[in-house]
Amino acid sequence: MIPLPLGRVAEITSGALTGQADPGAVVRGPVVIDSRAAEPGSLFVAIRGERADGHDFAAQALASGAAAVLASRPVDGPAVVVGDVVAALARLAHAVVTDLPKATVVGVTGSAGKTSTKDLLARLTARIGPTVAPVGSYNNEIGHPLTVLKADEDTRFLVLELSARNAGHIAYLAEIAPPSIGVVLNVGTAHLGVFGGKEAIAAAKGELPEALPSSGVAVLNLDDPLVAAMSGRTSARVLYFGRSASAHVRAVEETLDDRGRARFTLVTPAGEADVALRLHGAHAVENALAAAAAAHELGLPVAAIAEELSLAEPRSRWRMEVTDRADGVTVINDSYNANPDSMRAAFAAMHALAAHRRKFAVVAALRELGDDAPELNAGVGHLAAGAGLEALVVVGENADQIIAGAPGAIHAPDVDTAVAELTGRLAPGDVVLIKGPRAAALEKVAEALLGGDAR
Ligand SMILES: Nc1ncnc2c1ncn2[C@@H]1O[C@H](COP(=O)(O)OP(=O)(O)OP(=O)(O)O)[C@@H](O)[C@H]1O
Ligand SMILES: [Mg+2]
Repeated sequence: MIPLPLGRVAEITSGALTGQADPGAVVRGPVVIDSRAAEPGSLFVAIRGERADGHDFAAQALASGAAAVLASRPVDGPAVVVGDVVAALARLAHAVVTDLPKATVVGVTGSAGKTSTKDLLARLTARIGPTVAPVGSYNNEIGHPLTVLKADEDTRFLVLELSARNAGHIAYLAEIAPPSIGVVLNVGTAHLGVFGGKEAIAAAKGELPEALPSSGVAVLNLDDPLVAAMSGRTSARVLYFGRSASAHVRAVEETLDDRGRARFTLVTPAGEADVALRLHGAHAVENALAAAAAAHELGLPVAAIAEELSLAEPRSRWRMEVTDRADGVTVINDSYNANPDSMRAAFAAMHALAAHRRKFAVVAALRELGDDAPELNAGVGHLAAGAGLEALVVVGENADQIIAGAPGAIHAPDVDTAVAELTGRLAPGDVVLIKGPRAAALEKVAEALLGGDAR
């Protein structure tokens, strides 16, 4: 981060210096919420969570050299005491990012594919200049400012993932680090329960294009009508990506190889180039096009974009990891998370990858879908039932909702039972898809099946 004297931190956050804090002591970062990650010069942010209170770990952070604690009450040592730590963190991040001399902020949102797209785009922008991007899905009101605070004078690009858990959430994140480019991938059915409808989800995602200045660029998916319609909610210039002929940045002549990896010609206003993705699934094309469109806007030549996209491996775990066991069983581990849209994408990828092979799937009931849960889970069952599987194993709670759409599916109360059910059935050459919501932790099934082969 940009070094800041404690006095300045207090000024930005309207905080009070306590515990004999020296206003001239310099915070150099990293700004951390985990006391174990504190280093000399760190600012330790004491968050009071449901299970633990960060204030209890202040002494540990200070012992590791933290310059001070950002806290809501005095601690045993130098602190900046504020009324609301999370709000103070946001103000600090905002002040730092608006002072960065040469950083461009790019925000990515959508129902599925934010992390994958952010990872791709960060790889592309790194070709142009120093890039800061969050690890994994650090995309909420705490992870977002912490990521922003990693930037320093040299940072050229901040590639940020913005998640919408509720209306107003993206607007809040966009205010912390105002993006000049905003990418919207898709409007799906993730968190349907919280929002109560696809239109409400679209309204929330639309806060990103809305937050852009007129000098900015909204990068919108022309293939998703609810996203394309966001052109009416921004004063920024619109750049469309997609598969349709009228998209500014598009994929033509798209094919999937026998590993479910896409090849296509990337067409941009600056020319075209061939791409061969190492990522699995046709949905990766959507993410690649979104990243390509933003990178094109930032001035990266199309040849470099195509080259980097073709080199990219999954950076964040458990998203379409395809591994062959020694006995020839192929495991598709897409257990990071699931919603109805990404379920469809995963089954489509398996279909491409497993032509003429015996197919199995392990799934778990989707969560956060509110009243629509039974219907949408039955839809997942229906999808699986139509996928030509040898067997479908449904793990854990509310399995009956999926089985309602897939009579004959096997119910496994827990991961161990699921593994046992599969192990008895698998033969060399088979393909297993593993996909469920984060809470179901189905990566344990993949780990058990892969044993020493797990990546
Ligand atoms: N464009 C897409 N359309 C549909 N599914 C996708 C797309 N991109 C990725 N997925 C699938 O969605 C799941 C989550 O991917 P990813 O982590 O990139 O999304 P995310 O939007 O960051 O999710 P989260 O909201 O949990 O942070 C993975 O299973 C992945 O295979
Ligand atoms: Mg994510």
